[in-house]
Amino acid sequence: MMRAQGQNDAATQTHDNLNPLTPEPLNPLSFDPPRGMRDFYPEDMVWRNRVFDAWRQAAVAHGFQPYDACVVENLALLQRKSGEEVSQQIYHFEDKSGRKLALRPEMTPTLARMIAARQGQLTFPVKWFTTAQCFRYERMTRGRKREHYQWNMDIIGEESVSAEAELLAAAAASLKAMGMPDAGYRIHVNNRALLAELLASSGIAAQYHAAVFLALDKRGKISDDEIAALLATEGLDAEATRKAFDLLAVQTLDQAAARAAPDSVAVKALRDLFALAEIYGIADRLVFDMSVIRGLAYYTGIVFEAFDAERKFRAIFGGGRYDSLLTSIGGAPTPAVGLGFGDVVVVEVLKDLLGDAAATGKHGVVIGYMFPEQREAATRLACRLRDGNELVNLMLAAQKPKKFFERASVSTAVDAIFIGPDDVTRGTAKRKNLATREERDVALYSV
Ligand code: HAM
Repeated sequence: MMRAQGQNDAATQTHDNLNPLTPEPLNPLSFDPPRGMRDFYPEDMVWRNRVFDAWRQAAVAHGFQPYDACVVENLALLQRKSGEEVSQQIYHFEDKSGRKLALRPEMTPTLARMIAARQGQLTFPVKWFTTAQCFRYERMTRGRKREHYQWNMDIIGEESVSAEAELLAAAAASLKAMGMPDAGYRIHVNNRALLAELLASSGIAAQYHAAVFLALDKRGKISDDEIAALLATEGLDAEATRKAFDLLAVQTLDQAAARAAPDSVAVKALRDLFALAEIYGIADRLVFDMSVIRGLAYYTGIVFEAFDAERKFRAIFGGGRYDSLLTSIGGAPTPAVGLGFGDVVVVEVLKDLLGDAAATGKHGVVIGYMFPEQREAATRLACRLRDGNELVNLMLAAQKPKKFFERASVSTAVDAIFIGPDDVTRGTAKRKNLATREERDVALYSV
């Protein structure tokens, strides 16, 4: 074993004796978090809070109620109910009693379990939201981490597209509250029931539809040849594969409608949704897009995914209708629709559009003082301003004015108050706006 220079023999001996009180000589540890996980320094929290606040505000404004659950879930529920791809990405483990558990990769199976557990007591439709930390052992690419926070909004118990429209309006409101320009993103909408209808009318039997959805959903991520090979292993012949690809050539809802039955319920649902979007004032951001399929297995109807307008980043949010999930875990048949909106991509898009510094909002006042004798006056003033709901950062030690104003100018405060001996004698100090340098008097003692 190599020894550091000057290492003392007594210490080594104690170590060799395995005395538990003697610290092990450590290899230097990495300061990085585990791969794919994130640390949030204060400057990162500014962005995170901007996103979280907008989510909460939009959810509450649209009449959604908060719920939560533990990040640890039963592995069996997740394996059965998450999409095929997601279930391969689960972080799982056994507890000391041999229970097979996992860190949730998404919230939807947990929500379904919670709703099923109270199905008799709840008054439907239920509108619930949460911000859930989710873990997926993903291949690390831009916009994809192994941990992310996901805003979930779900409406359980409503079968009309009023539910989809309300969800999308809430998502749009949250984006507005974050400062996202309307022209900065588009919500791409499709209907899996329409896809199924068109596949069936092309002669592709229902038993193949799930495989076709899964394969076509990989478009853009793997080559068309690889997708064709996937479809071949699922049992589709070359003609059926050509027809499946051909569907993706459909550009508009009218083109899709022309291929569907005249009384297609799936087409009507999409037309209803686009009409409602006009009333909500979000129609400019909605586009019909046949290529939105959503890999998750449980979707049954309308599906959607939002992207930045230039398509530089991964999906900002995604969701859709999943009318069979409750039944599949043993609950009563219940229509459901929801969305998941992650915190990673939206911050990348916002930084790209607004600049890295956009979230660093300034607020409040920083208070400092010159000598220990002014600590009392500074503390009293801080308390008084805080009582008046001002945000006050009180310096905790005396310092020279130059040092104080240097620190204040790089802080998040709008104003600065520095208290010297003369100010205490006079009973007033100057409150200075750090940007404009304007000053006004502030009384040190309340009258
Ligand atoms: P999802 O499309 O798998 O859907 O994820 C929803 C959103 O979560 C994505 O659009 C993205 O913003 C974010 N996201 C997912 N995985 C990652 C990752 N590895 N890193 C960063 N962000 C990520 C669901 O999870 C469905 N359970 C949503 C839902 C709720 N459907 C109905 N209700």
